[in-house]
Amino acid sequence: MSESLLTVDGLTVHLPSAARPVIADVSFALAPGECLGVVGESGSGKSVTARSILGIPPAGMSASGTIQFGSHTYDVTDAETMRRWRSKHVGVIFQDPASVMDPTRTVGDYLTEVLVYERRMRRTEALLKAAEMLTSMGLSDPRALLDRYPHEFSGGQLQRICIAAALLPDPDLLIADEPTTALDNTTQALVIDLLDRARRERQVSTVFITHNLELALAFCDRIAVAYAGRIVEIGDTRTVARGGHHPYTDALLRCQPDVSRRHETLPVIAGQPPTLAQPLTGCVFRERCPRATDACVELPAWTAEDERLGYACVHPMTPGTTPSGVHDAA
Ligand SMILES: Nc1ncnc2c1ncn2[C@@H]1O[C@H](COP(=O)(O)OP(=O)(O)OP(=O)(O)O)[C@@H](O)[C@H]1O
Ligand code: SF4
Ligand SMILES: [Mg+2]
Repeated sequence: MSESLLTVDGLTVHLPSAARPVIADVSFALAPGECLGVVGESGSGKSVTARSILGIPPAGMSASGTIQFGSHTYDVTDAETMRRWRSKHVGVIFQDPASVMDPTRTVGDYLTEVLVYERRMRRTEALLKAAEMLTSMGLSDPRALLDRYPHEFSGGQLQRICIAAALLPDPDLLIADEPTTALDNTTQALVIDLLDRARRERQVSTVFITHNLELALAFCDRIAVAYAGRIVEIGDTRTVARGGHHPYTDALLRCQPDVSRRHETLPVIAGQPPTLAQPLTGCVFRERCPRATDACVELPAWTAEDERLGYACVHPMTPGTTPSGVHDAA
């Protein structure tokens, strides 16, 4: 694997009212053209991680840490530098497209903003490019759509418009937060194919955030597993598909519906993820972990398999050896 395009180092986010960091010491590297999936339960900090990498944590939260992009290192608290970096290099697909679109401006304005103001493209040319991109997203009559306002679209249409806006300026890096959640299966396949082509043809690196582990396994090169604001494992897709090293990775995989086991009761992970009101000490998964021992009262160190793969667990599993054998077919 070639040198990293993006390296995130020690990203930590605090919320004054919370008893623990919203995300803590998130670190990973991404190579050109690589796709890293970020998976985890609702509330595990996936969206806060995405926004903080971009230098725009949610209101009321403060982020610290650095990102290295190419040969430059940026402090995520340096708002103006981060804004310039984003507009030049990054395409962003937000989880809730409606929340980032100005309801008083047309979709055409939204789609062409970066091309016209940052890339100095003529507006007519930018609109033509935007219409082509909407067509490739499976939206018909794109010229008419450009004159419409966000409230005139369905959730799935808005999500595709948001994806088009992210891809239009030919970014080097794509941060995609649940990009296909609001889409039907056919449109999801179309969008995934577009993202895949951007990765293969233009070496676009992607951070692909999803709660859909199956989709992440199908699309990504590596998977980062998030729990209670921490990355507990980063594994290559094949290893994660076999249960990974971390008991939470294994538990997540067991919870995936599987048509071949449709008559069995779907396993669930006992207990609930900790809220932000709960201070955490030791391993974050300790309260729900079937392998927990007294050794887990200390925060487990990161065991690096190599510079790109590793896990935080003192009693790691051997991938593919889950007693029930549910991962053996992977
Ligand atoms: N603006 C905010 N103000 C206060 N707390 C917030 C805010 N945004 C997120 N949180 C809290 O931060 C934690 C992480 O939220 P985040 O949105 O990153 O979760 P997520 O993993 O993206 O979940 P989901 O899969 O549901 O999108 C949660 O406990 C959430 O309640
Ligand atoms: S460190 Fe202990 S509690 Fe945490 S995942 Fe590993 S075995 Fe479970
Ligand atoms: Mg989210």
